[in-house]
Amino acid sequence: MYKFFVLLFIYILFINLPNAKGENKEDKLSGFVECDGNFPNKITHFTFNPNPVKKNETTKFEIGGVSKVAFDRGSHLGIILFYEGFLVKYHAQDFCEQWVEPSGEPCPVGPGEFHFKGSKYFIQTKEDPEDVTLTGYVRLFIASYEGHIRSCIEGNVTVSYL
Ligand SMILES: *[C@@H]1O[C@H](CO)[C@@H](O)[C@H](O)[C@H]1NC(C)=O
Ligand SMILES: *[C@@H]1O[C@H](CO)[C@@H](O)[C@H](O)[C@H]1NC(C)=O
Repeated sequence: MYKFFVLLFIYILFINLPNAKGENKEDKLSGFVECDGNFPNKITHFTFNPNPVKKNETTKFEIGGVSKVAFDRGSHLGIILFYEGFLVKYHAQDFCEQWVEPSGEPCPVGPGEFHFKGSKYFIQTKEDPEDVTLTGYVRLFIASYEGHIRSCIEGNVTVSYL
Protein backbone atom coordinates (compact mmCIF):
# COMPACT_ATOMS: atom_id res chain seq x y z
CA MET A 1 0.00 0.00 0.00
CA TYR A 2 2.79 2.39 0.99
CA LYS A 3 4.61 1.60 -2.26
CA PHE A 4 1.44 2.29 -4.16
CA PHE A 5 1.18 5.79 -2.69
CA VAL A 6 4.83 6.52 -3.37
CA LEU A 7 4.34 5.44 -6.97
CA LEU A 8 1.14 7.46 -7.21
CA PHE A 9 2.96 10.49 -5.82
CA ILE A 10 5.81 10.06 -8.32
CA TYR A 11 3.24 9.61 -11.07
CA ILE A 12 1.47 12.85 -10.11
CA LEU A 13 4.79 14.69 -9.84
CA PHE A 14 6.12 13.64 -13.23
CA ILE A 15 2.99 13.27 -15.29
CA ASN A 16 0.93 16.17 -14.04
CA LEU A 17 3.64 18.81 -13.69
CA PRO A 18 4.32 19.10 -17.42
CA ASN A 19 0.55 19.11 -18.01
CA ALA A 20 0.08 21.97 -15.55
CA LYS A 21 2.90 23.87 -17.24
CA GLY A 22 1.29 23.19 -20.61
CA GLU A 23 -1.97 24.67 -19.37
CA ASN A 24 -0.22 27.87 -18.32
CA LYS A 25 1.44 28.08 -21.69
CA GLU A 26 -1.82 27.53 -23.53
CA ASP A 27 -2.17 31.28 -23.33
CA LYS A 28 -5.04 33.51 -24.12
CA LEU A 29 -5.03 35.26 -27.44
CA SER A 30 -7.82 37.62 -26.28
CA GLY A 31 -10.17 35.92 -28.74
CA PHE A 32 -7.75 36.25 -31.65
CA VAL A 33 -6.86 33.39 -34.01
CA GLU A 34 -3.91 32.82 -36.30
CA CYS A 35 -4.42 34.24 -39.82
CA ASP A 36 -4.84 31.87 -42.75
CA GLY A 37 -1.43 30.83 -43.97
CA ASN A 38 1.72 29.33 -42.61
CA PHE A 39 3.82 31.67 -40.46
CA PRO A 40 7.11 30.61 -38.84
CA ASN A 41 6.78 32.60 -35.60
CA LYS A 42 3.68 31.44 -33.73
CA ILE A 43 1.95 33.89 -31.41
CA THR A 44 0.40 32.07 -28.44
CA HIS A 45 -0.13 35.03 -26.10
CA PHE A 46 -1.74 38.34 -26.94
CA THR A 47 -3.35 40.86 -24.62
CA PHE A 48 -4.26 44.52 -24.79
CA ASN A 49 -5.26 46.84 -22.01
CA PRO A 50 -7.62 48.65 -21.69
CA ASN A 51 -10.00 46.31 -23.46
CA PRO A 52 -12.14 47.86 -25.04
CA VAL A 53 -9.47 50.18 -26.45
CA LYS A 54 -10.04 53.83 -25.50
CA LYS A 55 -9.26 56.66 -27.90
CA ASN A 56 -6.80 59.32 -26.68
CA GLU A 57 -5.30 56.80 -24.27
CA THR A 58 -2.28 54.55 -24.44
CA THR A 59 -3.10 50.90 -25.08
CA LYS A 60 -0.59 48.45 -23.62
CA PHE A 61 0.05 45.26 -25.55
CA GLU A 62 1.75 41.96 -24.72
CA ILE A 63 2.75 39.53 -27.39
CA GLY A 64 4.45 36.17 -26.90
CA GLY A 65 5.09 32.87 -28.60
CA VAL A 66 7.78 30.77 -30.19
CA SER A 67 9.83 31.85 -33.20
CA LYS A 68 11.57 29.64 -35.74
CA VAL A 69 13.10 32.63 -37.52
CA ALA A 70 14.84 35.53 -35.75
CA PHE A 71 13.11 38.91 -35.72
CA ASP A 72 15.65 41.05 -37.55
CA ARG A 73 16.51 44.73 -37.15
CA GLY A 74 14.05 46.75 -39.21
CA SER A 75 11.15 44.35 -38.52
CA HIS A 76 7.82 46.09 -38.26
CA LEU A 77 4.52 45.40 -36.61
CA GLY A 78 1.39 46.32 -38.50
CA ILE A 79 -2.15 46.73 -37.19
CA ILE A 80 -4.87 46.88 -39.84
CA LEU A 81 -8.38 47.79 -38.70
CA PHE A 82 -11.49 46.92 -40.68
CA TYR A 83 -15.10 47.95 -40.12
CA GLU A 84 -17.72 45.90 -41.92
CA GLY A 85 -15.09 44.59 -44.30
CA PHE A 86 -13.56 47.99 -45.14
CA LEU A 87 -10.00 48.92 -44.25
CA VAL A 88 -10.22 52.05 -42.10
CA LYS A 89 -6.83 52.35 -40.36
CA TYR A 90 -3.32 51.08 -40.79
CA HIS A 91 -0.70 51.60 -38.07
CA ALA A 92 2.89 50.44 -38.46
CA GLN A 93 5.60 50.43 -35.79
CA ASP A 94 9.28 49.54 -35.78
CA PHE A 95 9.09 46.20 -33.98
CA CYS A 96 12.66 46.26 -32.62
CA GLU A 97 12.67 49.86 -31.44
CA GLN A 98 9.16 49.88 -30.00
CA TRP A 99 8.69 46.32 -28.76
CA VAL A 100 11.89 44.25 -28.52
CA GLU A 101 14.32 46.83 -27.12
CA PRO A 102 11.90 48.32 -24.52
CA SER A 103 11.37 44.71 -23.33
CA GLY A 104 15.11 44.55 -22.64
CA GLU A 105 16.46 42.60 -25.62
CA PRO A 106 18.47 43.56 -28.68
CA CYS A 107 17.54 42.71 -32.29
CA PRO A 108 18.00 40.29 -33.98
CA VAL A 109 16.19 38.18 -31.37
CA GLY A 110 15.44 34.45 -31.53
CA PRO A 111 14.73 31.87 -32.68
CA GLY A 112 13.08 30.64 -29.49
CA GLU A 113 10.45 31.73 -27.00
CA PHE A 114 9.60 35.41 -27.04
CA HIS A 115 7.57 37.77 -24.90
CA PHE A 116 7.45 41.49 -25.67
CA LYS A 117 5.51 44.48 -24.46
CA GLY A 118 4.47 47.35 -26.65
CA SER A 119 2.15 50.32 -26.51
CA LYS A 120 0.33 52.62 -28.86
CA TYR A 121 -1.48 55.88 -28.27
CA PHE A 122 -4.61 55.77 -30.41
CA ILE A 123 -5.48 59.38 -31.14
CA GLN A 124 -9.07 60.39 -31.81
CA THR A 125 -9.07 62.19 -35.17
CA LYS A 126 -11.69 64.33 -36.91
CA GLU A 127 -12.45 61.39 -39.24
CA ASP A 128 -13.34 59.14 -36.28
CA PRO A 129 -16.94 58.58 -35.20
CA GLU A 130 -17.93 60.30 -31.95
CA ASP A 131 -19.27 59.05 -28.64
CA VAL A 132 -19.81 55.43 -29.69
CA THR A 133 -18.32 52.04 -28.97
CA LEU A 134 -17.74 49.99 -32.12
CA THR A 135 -16.37 46.52 -32.75
CA GLY A 136 -14.00 46.26 -35.68
CA TYR A 137 -11.79 43.52 -37.01
CA VAL A 138 -8.02 43.71 -36.56
CA ARG A 139 -5.29 41.87 -38.42
CA LEU A 140 -1.95 42.20 -36.62
CA PHE A 141 1.28 41.03 -38.22
CA ILE A 142 5.02 41.16 -37.68
CA ALA A 143 7.07 41.37 -40.89
CA SER A 144 10.80 41.20 -41.55
CA TYR A 145 12.82 44.10 -42.94
CA GLU A 146 12.11 42.76 -46.45
CA GLY A 147 8.40 42.45 -45.69
CA HIS A 148 8.15 38.70 -45.17
CA ILE A 149 5.30 38.00 -42.74
CA ARG A 150 6.67 36.15 -39.69
CA SER A 151 3.54 36.17 -37.51
CA CYS A 152 -0.08 37.08 -38.05
CA ILE A 153 -3.15 37.00 -35.80
CA GLU A 154 -6.61 38.46 -36.25
CA GLY A 155 -9.74 39.07 -34.24
CA ASN A 156 -12.44 41.42 -33.06
CA VAL A 157 -11.48 44.56 -31.15
CA THR A 158 -13.91 46.95 -29.52
CA VAL A 159 -12.98 50.64 -29.49
CA SER A 160 -14.55 53.42 -27.41
CA TYR A 161 -14.64 56.71 -29.28
CA LEU A 162 -14.85 60.03 -27.46
C1 LIG B 1 -15.57 38.34 -34.90
O1 LIG B 1 -16.91 38.69 -34.72
C2 LIG B 1 -17.78 38.11 -35.69
C3 LIG B 1 -19.18 38.70 -35.49
O2 LIG B 1 -19.57 38.56 -34.14
C4 LIG B 1 -17.74 36.60 -35.58
O3 LIG B 1 -18.55 36.02 -36.55
C5 LIG B 1 -16.30 36.12 -35.78
O4 LIG B 1 -16.21 34.73 -35.57
C6 LIG B 1 -15.36 36.83 -34.83
N1 LIG B 1 -14.00 36.47 -35.19
C7 LIG B 1 -13.12 36.02 -34.28
C8 LIG B 1 -11.78 35.65 -34.80
O5 LIG B 1 -13.38 35.92 -33.10
C1 LIG C 1 -7.92 63.74 -28.42
O1 LIG C 1 -6.57 64.16 -28.49
C2 LIG C 1 -6.33 65.12 -29.54
C3 LIG C 1 -4.83 65.36 -29.58
O2 LIG C 1 -4.32 65.60 -28.31
C4 LIG C 1 -7.11 66.36 -29.28
O3 LIG C 1 -6.92 67.28 -30.34
C5 LIG C 1 -8.59 66.03 -29.19
O4 LIG C 1 -9.34 67.17 -28.82
C6 LIG C 1 -8.82 64.93 -28.15
N1 LIG C 1 -10.21 64.55 -28.22
C7 LIG C 1 -11.03 64.53 -27.15
C8 LIG C 1 -12.46 64.22 -27.40
O5 LIG C 1 -10.60 64.71 -26.02
